[in-house]
Amino acid sequence: MKLFNEVPLAPDDAILGVVEAYKKDPRDPKVNLSIGIYSDANGQVPILNAVKAAEKYLYEHPTPKVYLPMSGLGSYVDCVQKLLFTEDHALYQEKRLATVQSLGGTGALKVGADFLHTIVPNSTVYVSDPTWNNHIAIFEGAGFKVARYPYFDPETKGVAFDKFYQFMETLPANSIVILHACCHNPTGADLTTEQWQKVAKLFKERDLIPFLDMAYQGFSKGIREDAESIHIFAEQNIPVFIATSFSKSFSLYSERIGALTVITSDAKEQERITSQLKTMVRAIYSSPPSYGAQIVHYVLADPTLRASWEQELAEMRDRIKDMRAKFVKLLNSKQDKIDFEFINQQAGMFSYSGLNADQVEKMKKDYAIYTVGSGRICIAALNDQNIELAADAVVNVL
Ligand code: LMR
Repeated sequence: MKLFNEVPLAPDDAILGVVEAYKKDPRDPKVNLSIGIYSDANGQVPILNAVKAAEKYLYEHPTPKVYLPMSGLGSYVDCVQKLLFTEDHALYQEKRLATVQSLGGTGALKVGADFLHTIVPNSTVYVSDPTWNNHIAIFEGAGFKVARYPYFDPETKGVAFDKFYQFMETLPANSIVILHACCHNPTGADLTTEQWQKVAKLFKERDLIPFLDMAYQGFSKGIREDAESIHIFAEQNIPVFIATSFSKSFSLYSERIGALTVITSDAKEQERITSQLKTMVRAIYSSPPSYGAQIVHYVLADPTLRASWEQELAEMRDRIKDMRAKFVKLLNSKQDKIDFEFINQQAGMFSYSGLNADQVEKMKKDYAIYTVGSGRICIAALNDQNIELAADAVVNVL
């Protein structure tokens, strides 16, 4: 059709494109270490027991499938706020949190991006170098200019904090800075408490706008510990944007359940901001679906199920740490060019392995081991059946 004559084929997505290629690969065995999805020791994506209990309840107590409000399920929104800050926190007590349910963490970023574009359209959005690629697409898609800030030091495999901080010192007021609240994707390198404190102070001094992406709460140290960065920014009494995702922590990837929370100065301001966020939602998808929100609410509001969820999340976190240790041991025992101990220091689901695009391509072509082109390996998809294959492939391409 003439209308489409000049439409080019879009390039494959850096992460989802790898998953598509993996699915098409007829070889056996093959291993998918690309996308950030947790699999259990048997290579299955778990359905958490707490989630099963909630689903059973929902099945036995059906409710009419009417539209949710634009801001989502009220009881879910309340749980999100309490999970981020606890019920006793002044921000919760004083009704200063503007929260809307969203389609996963991506939806939260999009709603926040669209809203910010209505108030600071000329601001530049800064993302870490490297970052999750979709950050760039989402904020460019909302109409912003997107630039990178220095973040990762390939020598130490940690945060290049001095460079990072010096760069932030040069940013003009109202610059929007996307930060990873914990478990930095893709590097697994996070700031220390002292570094977060220093950065949060600077953001206040320079009127920078922090937008914290919280996609992996509970995968580094624990549910409360991983929210530390958010609390540190909140203490500065500045506007803070937080994108929450329950994809990983509840293993609810396909339910697309997340939330956007904005810290405001008082209850009246919160009402105004919430009304604007609702306007954004209405224009993108009108109102969110209810199923994931009902599950998360049911689990978080029930003390027994909540305890069960916390336990299951801790098990996921611990299994990933075990896999890190085993992977390092295997890699270091099979070669002596590189000391892979740094993998043990990285937080979250991933290892930023240092493999380059050619090596990643060779692992795929010669060994059917799929990782992301940046060299990011999903440690959360390793298990006792595939870890040796993965380690052999890495060693053979070094
Ligand atoms: C990832 O980084 O692999 C996940 O966040 C999934 C995605 O949407 O890219």
